Amino acid sequence: MAGLSVGGPGERAALQGYYDDFADHYVPGWRSIQYYGPLVADFLLRAVTPECRVLDLGCGPGQLTRDLAPDVSVTGTDLSPRMLEEARRGRPQGRYELHDLHDPLPAAWGRFDVVVAVGCLEFCRDLAGTLRHLAAACAPGARLLVGAVEDRAVGTGRREFSADGLPGIDMHCYDATAQLAAASAAGLSPWSYRYVPAWRHEEYAYVVQYGLWELRRG
Ligand SMILES: C[S@@+](CC[C@H](N)C(=O)[O-])C[C@H]1O[C@@H](n2cnc3c(N)ncnc32)[C@H](O)[C@@H]1O
Repeated sequence: MAGLSVGGPGERAALQGYYDDFADHYVPGWRSIQYYGPLVADFLLRAVTPECRVLDLGCGPGQLTRDLAPDVSVTGTDLSPRMLEEARRGRPQGRYELHDLHDPLPAAWGRFDVVVAVGCLEFCRDLAGTLRHLAAACAPGARLLVGAVEDRAVGTGRREFSADGLPGIDMHCYDATAQLAAASAAGLSPWSYRYVPAWRHEEYAYVVQYGLWELRRG
């Protein structure tokens, strides 16, 4: 798709292929190693209001937002066509779009009241740019939940994502100062910050941690 801007065609194809293959068995496998689900559910319970517009960035099969009330408008974006198919199957009234999180969100999609961006910023090369695009797509007063990989041994830098499934693809880490700077530069105000276990990396046997932010658009 024109405009997709992951690190290059090789990286994009690798990520799409990896997550396409993952799509139909993602939910049960992921649930067993993922820790942030209840935190997302708690955020949505507090942030979502009747008839509001929710953006699920890097939505995968859409399981985080698929069970929101039917009057809530959900837009999910992802790089993987098969993930988007799964998401559509789970919430047929939702809107699911092929989109790279490094790109601006088309204005035609409208403004969002609630944004969830978790489980995907692992692959974000430019957190400040992505948060700027999210802020531009937010309605005034919008509430965002953003999880960025925070590896205190790495600081702001990269580590190998997988020597097995995704060789040559990096996991992007941001220290808390860089996360805050990216949010502030995008015009997003920090409401809360937690350093939380995010998911268990089975291949390397460690727990990936997030800086998990609730942000608000002024
Ligand atoms: C681990 S899954 C997380 C799905 C869901 N957000 C969750 O937390 O369960 C990561 C998702 O990010 C998507 N992804 C990876 N890089 C992306 C990019 N550059 N733009 C958009 N989506 C991307 C993948 O296709 C995959 O569906």
